[in-house]
Amino acid sequence: MKSKERAIIFLLCVTTLCVSWRGFMPCNLPRDQSLCACERCLSEDDPWFKKRFNKSVEPFLSANYNLSDDDFNWWKCLQSEKGNYSTFRATVARLFLTVPPSPDVLESSPDRCRTCAVVGNSVNLRRSHYGPIIDIHDIIIRMNTGQMKGYEADVGTRTTHHVMYPESSVDLDNTTHLVLAPFKIKDLEWLTKALTTGFKGRSYAPVKSKIKSNMDLVMVLNPAFIRYVHNTWLKKKGNYPSTGFLALVLALHMCDEVSVFGYGADSDGNWSHYWEELKNKKLKTGGHSGNTEFEMIQELDERQKLKFYTGF
Ligand code: C5P
Repeated sequence: MKSKERAIIFLLCVTTLCVSWRGFMPCNLPRDQSLCACERCLSEDDPWFKKRFNKSVEPFLSANYNLSDDDFNWWKCLQSEKGNYSTFRATVARLFLTVPPSPDVLESSPDRCRTCAVVGNSVNLRRSHYGPIIDIHDIIIRMNTGQMKGYEADVGTRTTHHVMYPESSVDLDNTTHLVLAPFKIKDLEWLTKALTTGFKGRSYAPVKSKIKSNMDLVMVLNPAFIRYVHNTWLKKKGNYPSTGFLALVLALHMCDEVSVFGYGADSDGNWSHYWEELKNKKLKTGGHSGNTEFEMIQELDERQKLKFYTGF
């Protein structure tokens, strides 16, 4: 066989292999620029998703991040902040003397598939048996007073990230990242003090003076990220995004594949929890737009940007 013929046959074989192996590396390079090693990568071309998903917004604060005046002025209205921008900066600077000055995040790479489970606190987790499915994810994000002890079969046994604010804070084990969702300057001050000498201040609800958490794993959500979630993903509905919705968009930014558990109000429209009977029957979804948030989760699921486990 002449060398020209051999070359043509070789090329034909490679093309056939690439076509039949579409979806496997590296033949799918032109399809999704090989952003990750999952079967599907989140940032694949999709105009609807691309219009909303803004990779350039930093999810976490770092010591050298400069929050814009505009973002600060939006954020300070969330819980009627009285402090000014220089107080904010000084408080952030003090916080980053205690916790890592830059966040510990795993960047995307063509040879890794970062999977996230976001676990909200919905009562629909009861008797769901989702525990083992939740536990197989690389990153497992929980929030507020969400707990595992006694509910392992339904909610799993691992937590890598726990999102909270002072009024919803809980102690963590040594391997879990505390992710603070700050809504006022006092929240940033609280974190520094609660991790060290103890916080003596007050808030609209009781706050823990001290918190158990590995200081080397602490991360702080960026106020500009909270604004982006509110403006872009919720079209400014509700006072501001719920912890659960913040955690969900955070997962879209940290992972290539996202599974969502524990979201959805009960039959009376209340955000009741899987571990307790509802005390306040008029709770509804607080100051958050529960419907907008829920509809967006459903839409993301329909568009296969995440998998929504709706519970029972
Ligand atoms: O009640 P809590 O704020 O701790 O719940 C955490 C999050 O879980 C909420 O912010 C909300 O996004 C979600 N949740 C829900 N349905 C419920 C309870 C909570 O979607 N019944």
